[in-house]
Amino acid sequence: MEIIEVQDYEEMSQKAAQIIISKVIHNPEMVIGFATGGTPKGTYRHLIEDHQKNGTSYSRISSVNLDEYAGLEANSPNSYRYYMNHSLFNHLDINMDQTHVPNGTAKQLEEECRRYDGLIDELGGVDLQILGMGVNGHIGFNEPGTSFTSPTHVVELAESTRKANARYFESLEDVPTHAVTMGIGTIMKSKHILLLVSGNEKAEALANLQKGAVTEEVPATILNHHPQVTVIADKQALSQTLTRR
Ligand code: GLP
Repeated sequence: MEIIEVQDYEEMSQKAAQIIISKVIHNPEMVIGFATGGTPKGTYRHLIEDHQKNGTSYSRISSVNLDEYAGLEANSPNSYRYYMNHSLFNHLDINMDQTHVPNGTAKQLEEECRRYDGLIDELGGVDLQILGMGVNGHIGFNEPGTSFTSPTHVVELAESTRKANARYFESLEDVPTHAVTMGIGTIMKSKHILLLVSGNEKAEALANLQKGAVTEEVPATILNHHPQVTVIADKQALSQTLTRR
């Protein structure tokens, strides 16, 4: 696991964007796995700026997203499809038909999960998966205790995750109770994983990851078993690690 230490959120975002851009230039037909949440927003801003300034093209890439809330329509401002369209896709030359987010309103969510894993296989797998991390170390919406071999599945969100994400909703009651998420098994099949971590509240989970012990209680620790992981973490996120050195 390569760890790139940066000063702050802004530098993390710049570095992440540079890595993504150079990969897209090198392989214009790559499959990118995108994440949502506050963490990758700055990275997406840099991708848009670069696209406008330097013309990096996304017209031939395909994308898959990590997860989606159950029950939110694509045009609901809190859905991850809406987030992706507005924070990134609408500002690039990406082919919308080649962007994929799990359908959280599918009648048969279990079937949707199988369809999604099949789709990722058909695309030839994910070349670069961008990940954020929850305060409890969750990746995607894989909460503590999730099996490391899980395929895409429906999850009941931990109360702490609903509370953490309530800041994006009008009230806690509006935060869906369930979501569809790529499983940890699915995420681990990605060829390269780029984990972005910023802020004090992620310091404990990051320190657990860096300790090297792999435990289902901190889902992100499974990344210690992946052959190609790049972590970009800022000073605050590394605060617990740095003081232990
Ligand atoms: C949500 C998403 C995760 C994300 C996490 C952290 O739970 N499902 O993919 O990594 O939040 O979000 P943030 O980056 O806003 O801290």
